[in-house]
Amino acid sequence: MQVHQHKRIAVVNGGGDCPGLNAVIRAVVKTAILRYGWEVWGSEDSFDGLIKPGKLIPMTLETVRGILPRGGTILGTTNRGNPFRYPERNERGEIVFQDYSERVIQKVKEMNLDAMVLIGGDGTLTIGQRFCERGLPIVGVPKTIDQDLLATETTFGFDTALKTVTESLDMIHTTAESHERVMVIEVMGRNAGWIALEAGIAGGADIILIPEIPFRVEKLVEKIEARRVAGRPFSIVVVSEGATPVGGSQIYREKGIEDPFGKLGGIGAIVAGMLGSRVQLETRVVVLGHLQRGGSPTAFDRLLGTRFGVAAVDLIAKNQFGRMVALDDQKITSVTIAEAIARQRLVNPQGEIVQAARAIGICFGD
Ligand code: F6P
Repeated sequence: MQVHQHKRIAVVNGGGDCPGLNAVIRAVVKTAILRYGWEVWGSEDSFDGLIKPGKLIPMTLETVRGILPRGGTILGTTNRGNPFRYPERNERGEIVFQDYSERVIQKVKEMNLDAMVLIGGDGTLTIGQRFCERGLPIVGVPKTIDQDLLATETTFGFDTALKTVTESLDMIHTTAESHERVMVIEVMGRNAGWIALEAGIAGGADIILIPEIPFRVEKLVEKIEARRVAGRPFSIVVVSEGATPVGGSQIYREKGIEDPFGKLGGIGAIVAGMLGSRVQLETRVVVLGHLQRGGSPTAFDRLLGTRFGVAAVDLIAKNQFGRMVALDDQKITSVTIAEAIARQRLVNPQGEIVQAARAIGICFGD
């Protein structure tokens, strides 16, 4: 029997929740305990477990029992928990930013933690990279419904989001057809159009607008009117939250303290407004919003999350820190975290999926 050096590790998740997160946490805990006989701690609400008292909790096989089908994360999360720029209210009620990074480093020492599994998207992994540079032994696991990290073929959460959007488009279709309306559906994805593109195709959209292909409203009008004249007096327009008209800029909803530029959102209503009286059909807007991050993960996301969780613990066993697990050609591999946060995975406007969509008559507004 192979004997492994005893280790104490922590699991931390940061940023938005994502279906499949619990599968990763479960796999980390089970692999660490069952394969290596290690001890695992969980940091509640992102890095808070390493900043505030009472929020670093012991993780056992019991803690992770029954969580595989659950959406969200049993550890809780926040996108306002950056230890390098932690927002707090002062006595006048104003937001001030504290640097708690040293506190995190001290807590890791105090708790004798040998390593940390950090599950996050580019924001959380960028924080992870800064800690790596300060000497913390971190292994990353990519997490985002947006599928926007170039270093990995896909991420858990994306497939569940696709399923939710596709099923929503099926539902919207019936009402669009009954009322003879143009339905504009805004979906998430930040600067990457993957959710809009793939769910749009799977859900039978007539028009798909993505950040990678700026659109002209006249092209949308042409498509909608051509369908109406041909006896299809309704259209489904899927708009990615980061889409822009040619020469226009992205639309943000209210600013968040964690993000000085705010969060993307609102382009759906603008597209509907642009169509306005230019089409001879009524228009309605549906913003799917956080529905896309909720619900039980698909089998694919549970499986990928599990594979990532196991691989992350294996990387720790091999002392391969500063690396993130990734999927390449369906196989689990790893890349440096620095490499992973450097480049976004965007839709290739000349790529096969876009060409397939065009071949079946989907309009991209260009
Ligand atoms: O990155 C995941 C994501 O859901 C994006 O698609 C979206 O723009 C953003 O997070 C929304 O963030 P929040 O939950 O802070 O509104």
